[in-house]
This record gives sequence, C-alpha cells and structure tokens, in this order.
Amino acid sequence: MKKVLVTGGAGFIGSNFVHYLLGTARDLKIQIVNLDALTYAGSLENLKDLPEGHYTFVQGDICNRDLVRGLLDQYQIDTIVHFAAESHVDRSILSPEPFIQANVIGTFTLLEAARQYWLIEKALPIDEIRFHHVSTDEVYGTLDPEDPAFSETTPYAPNSPYAASKAASDHLVRSYHHTYQLPVTISNCSNNYGPRQFPEKLIPLIILNALSGKSLPVYGDGQQIRDWLFVTDHCEAIYKILTQGVSGQTYNIGGNNQSANLTIVETVCDLLDEMQPAAEPRRNLIKFVTDRPGHDRRYAMNISKIDRELGWKPRYSLTDGLIATVQWMLANPEWVVAIQKQSEYQTWLTKNYDKREKSS
Ligand code: NAD
Ligand code: DAU
Repeated sequence: MKKVLVTGGAGFIGSNFVHYLLGTARDLKIQIVNLDALTYAGSLENLKDLPEGHYTFVQGDICNRDLVRGLLDQYQIDTIVHFAAESHVDRSILSPEPFIQANVIGTFTLLEAARQYWLIEKALPIDEIRFHHVSTDEVYGTLDPEDPAFSETTPYAPNSPYAASKAASDHLVRSYHHTYQLPVTISNCSNNYGPRQFPEKLIPLIILNALSGKSLPVYGDGQQIRDWLFVTDHCEAIYKILTQGVSGQTYNIGGNNQSANLTIVETVCDLLDEMQPAAEPRRNLIKFVTDRPGHDRRYAMNISKIDRELGWKPRYSLTDGLIATVQWMLANPEWVVAIQKQSEYQTWLTKNYDKREKSS
C-alpha cells in the first residue's frame, strides 16, 4: 500500500481515516489521493493540519468514470479504500434515489475503473493491489433481543433503501472478486461516533441540540439497540485489513458496546451537565417523537473473526468514546458553527423533525 485512493475522505469516517493513516499510524510511505464530491456531508474543514507532502485532494464524483480512471493512471494507485456514499438512513427514506446513484452506480464505476486499470491493462503487479469496500452491519437486517450477533455468514436482509443500496454494492464487490479475481476485501461495521461526525446522526445531533437547549428527539420508545464503535477504532480495523487481511474476505467490525438509544441520549445529557453545567438537567429536553418507518430494532456484531485472524479489538469503552466526542465538539466551536450555518442542514432539520414533532 503506497498510492492510496480514498473515496469520501472529506466525510466523517473517511477524514478520520486520512488523519489516522498520516497521524496515528504515521504511515508516511503512503501518498493519499482523496476523491470526494463534497456533498452536504463532506467538508474540507475535516482535513486540516495534515502532514505536508503526503496528501492530494480532488473534488469529484465517484460516478464519473473518466475522472476515476484518470486518477488511477495519473497517481498509479495500488489501493482503493472506498468510503464515499450517501450514509443517512432517514434521508434514504425521504429520498432514496441519490443512494442508488452514489452507493450502487458509484461503487460499480470504481470497480470498472479498477478492473480496466489493474486487470485489463495490468498496470501493476496483482499482489500489490487492493480494493477495500467499507460497508455496514445494516445489510444483515434486524435482530430480536435473544438472537445471536451478526456474523460474516449471516444472510443479507437489508430493511431501508440505504441498507439495500449498501447490500447491492457489497454484492457487486464480491462478484468482481469471484468473476474477475479482483483483489478485494469488505468490512461491515456497526454504528460509528466520534470527532467530525455530521450532526444528522444521533450522537452529534443530541450533543449540539443539548448544548443549545433544543429538544432531544428520541424515535419511538428509544429501546432500539445499536453496537457503538469509536471512529478511530474503525480506522485501525480497516488499516489492519489493508495490511494483513486476505483478499476475497469479509470482516465484521463492531464495538462490543450495545446500548439502547435512550441510554445513549441520557448518558450524553449527564456528561454535558458535568462538563458544561446548565440551569436545568439536559434530560428534561428529551422528547419522544414519531418512529422511523421500518426502524431496525437491534444490531450486534460478532467480531471474533477479525479478532482471531487479525488481532483487532476495539480500544474505546462507550464512556471514554463519548467523553472524547463531547470534548472534541466543545474544543471545535468553529466546526460546529460552520455546519449550523449550512442552509442545507437547517432545511434537513425542518424536513425530518417538524412533522415528527407535531404528530408525537
Ligand atoms: P458521511 O456521510 O459522513 O461521508 C460521506 C462522504 O462521501 C462525504 O464526504 C461525501 O461528500 C462523499 N460522497 C458522497 N457521494 C459521493 C460521490 N458520488 N462521489 C464522491 N464523494 C461522495 O459518511 P460516513 O458516516 O463517513 O460513512 C462512510 C462510509 O462508511 C459509508 O460507505 C457508510 O456506508 C459506511 N459506514 C458508516 C457507518 C457510520 O456509522 N457512519 C458505519 C458503518 C459503515
Ligand atoms: O449501523 C451502521 C449504520 O449506522 C451506518 O451504516 C449508517 O451510515 C449510520 O448512519 C448509522 O445508521 P443509524 O440509522 O443506526 O444511525 P443514526 O445515528 O441515524 O441513528 C441511530 C439510532 O438513533 C437509530 O436507532 C435511530 C435513532 N435516532 C436517530 C436520530 C437521528 C433517534 O432516536 N433520533 C434521531 O434524531
């Protein structure tokens, strides 16, 4: 891994991954090309203070095949780490089409460009190339309380347009390995949280609303369970897969931190009360609102394969990860203000929450 094309590297996990490679892992033999369309979810604010000379940003769409093909050639890319996607379940319920475009057509376009450059033109030795596809636990559907956690062999049963589009992209990646022997790996990961997460997702939304005294919307009864993973742990798992993972394999990644949404919201309230006391306890701001249609009840990841084969385990407990996340938000007010000023973000809040709040 020397010349790495990161897609979606201006988003939450992608930007943390770029910081991880050049910072925590300090893998300075690497040159990174970050291809990102800078949708509402991507921001160059997420990519400040990177070491000089190892990083190039290209604004563009992964669906633009000529652009992707040109970048592979120009930078002699040997590794693609594919994060770019439409990623928010609620948006996929209100407007599914962009999810099919970015997640399905986008992944297909990258695969075709890689096949052309690496397999047809044989631009690089086959044992030096890798396409890593970043996916989600949501492809496996939902669990009942007593069900065992999802493993790599759990059948796919996606329930939202987002999950279905990611499942489709996973299948495409798998098929390029099976049919063309493209060297691929896939990771399916549970819910991430941490620095630079766009505040449409539960944890950053609750932190920002709580800090400005706004109501804290909990869908349905708040007893849905997610398996929370601090984003740096996810980055480390991907790095392990890239450096030690076996081509053609899928690895499940999770936090071993299963918690009900209401508990997460209450914990964030209590942490904020401690770190930045307000006149009233923030728990008073919690408001139960109309549930998400088709809401998956429980996710849990069995991570024994990646632990056993690659020696990866999450490092952060939920409490430590939440403290680090809140501290980051408090220490980066300019990042918060830039997003809150985005008219697209304000429009989204109105679109997603106004009706919900009225009908609750
Ligand atoms: P995000 O929404 O924060 O970032 C997505 C990035 O992709 C943005 O920078 C956006 O500009 C870019 N992008 C979108 N469409 C594009 C296109 N057509 N061309 C180029 N760039 C485009 O998403 P995230 O939360 O960082 O998720 C990254 C990946 O990880 C996604 O594939 C997602 O499915 C997967 N994932 C996310 C989580 C999670 O909890 N956030 C968990 C498991 C897997
Ligand atoms: O499981 C992995 C997935 O996690 C990723 O693939 C997705 O990209 C990522 O968005 C995330 O999906 P979720 O739908 O689980 O995340 P979200 O933060 O939107 O919601 C987490 C839980 O909180 C979910 O049960 C819905 C609930 N929720 C969410 C919001 C935004 C609320 O109760 N209130 C809210 O306002």
